[in-house]
Amino acid sequence: MARNMLVTGGAGFIGSNFVHYVMEHTDDTVTVLDKFTYAGNEASLAGLPENRVRVVRGDICDGELVDQLVSDTDIVVHYAAESHNDNSLHDPKPFLDTNIIGTYTLLEAVRRHEKRIHHISTDEVYGDLELDDPERFNEHTAYNPSSPYSSTKAGSDLLVRAWVRSFGLQATISNCSNNYGPRQHVEKFIPRQITNILIGERPKLYGEGLNVRDWIHADDHSSAVLRIIDQGRLGETYLIGADGEKNNKDVLELILETMGQPTDAYEHVVDRPGHDLRYAIDPTKIRDELGWEPAYSDFTAGLEATVQWYRDNEAWWQPQKAATEAKYREQGQ
Ligand code: NAD
Ligand code: TYD
Repeated sequence: MARNMLVTGGAGFIGSNFVHYVMEHTDDTVTVLDKFTYAGNEASLAGLPENRVRVVRGDICDGELVDQLVSDTDIVVHYAAESHNDNSLHDPKPFLDTNIIGTYTLLEAVRRHEKRIHHISTDEVYGDLELDDPERFNEHTAYNPSSPYSSTKAGSDLLVRAWVRSFGLQATISNCSNNYGPRQHVEKFIPRQITNILIGERPKLYGEGLNVRDWIHADDHSSAVLRIIDQGRLGETYLIGADGEKNNKDVLELILETMGQPTDAYEHVVDRPGHDLRYAIDPTKIRDELGWEPAYSDFTAGLEATVQWYRDNEAWWQPQKAATEAKYREQGQ
């Protein structure tokens, strides 16, 4: 039976890809609740069926609005967050407001109305791994976040767990690795480098670029979230990853090669303070228990398609680019 989902942060990168995915793969209807911060973009929701997608501009910290929207929904899918580590190092307060107070506000409304929530989180709550550590993160790894961003996401996960334990809240949690794909803000690593090349700026690599991220296509994240919503056990946490570990230098060289540039045409810039070395997900639980498999097994092909998306959609990213680079320049990055 078709559901009505409340998707918070549905105008951001992963949330908007999820809304597109839901439109293509289900009969569900969606209400997007988004504050349209610098990271929210109306253009990311363009072309979606008007009879199935409603967009509400508002803050997840607004208790009255949240209460009313939650009462009208079957399930909340909670993507809204302040999401960028570098921003969190310069101004942590919005991260506390949205990631902690916003999540608390949603949990209380879900509890009052006896609805269900799926909370979207990140593998960064587990801190980082050594490059040669044979272990990867799993559902039993201890929380050890490094940055204001990851610590507020960890805090939000713990709130969800406490609401499950104390109040019997109907909730699931997923912690996913780094996403790539269309509609990602140009402040993030992959789109920043692609759009730098497109405007004739040299890409910028933090430090030596040996830090490893475990890349997954945003559509694979969406299919995993839908699978958890459909088949996941209430109260459980599922880690989402697609065996995509790569260091930043290799990813940057692949972007340069894909875009017909010499593979050394980039600059090393000042490293991020407290920069996590490596993230890696062991996705055994979601694969074995829910039978989920990623569809994008070829990172190079996924990256080429992403490069093409940024080539074809300059009107989408161009308005954000100058301000984003001005902010990085101030930070020496
Ligand atoms: P994003 O920054 O692109 O989008 C965040 C969205 O939330 C924006 O549309 C913004 O306007 C909205 N928002 C922010 N504050 C709000 C508020 N107070 N009320 C309502 N809306 C608000 O982020 P993203 O990269 O799409 O990440 C989405 C979620 O996925 C986050 O919870 C993030 O922690 C998680 N996540 C991200 C990644 C990644 O690689 N980007 C990986 C794993 C998990
Ligand atoms: P980012 O996209 O900010 O994601 P996260 O911090 O959540 O992993 O960064 C991904 C990696 O790329 C991270 O190791 C930092 C690095 N990075 C650069 O080397 N250059 C850049 O310009 C940016 C934005 C990130």
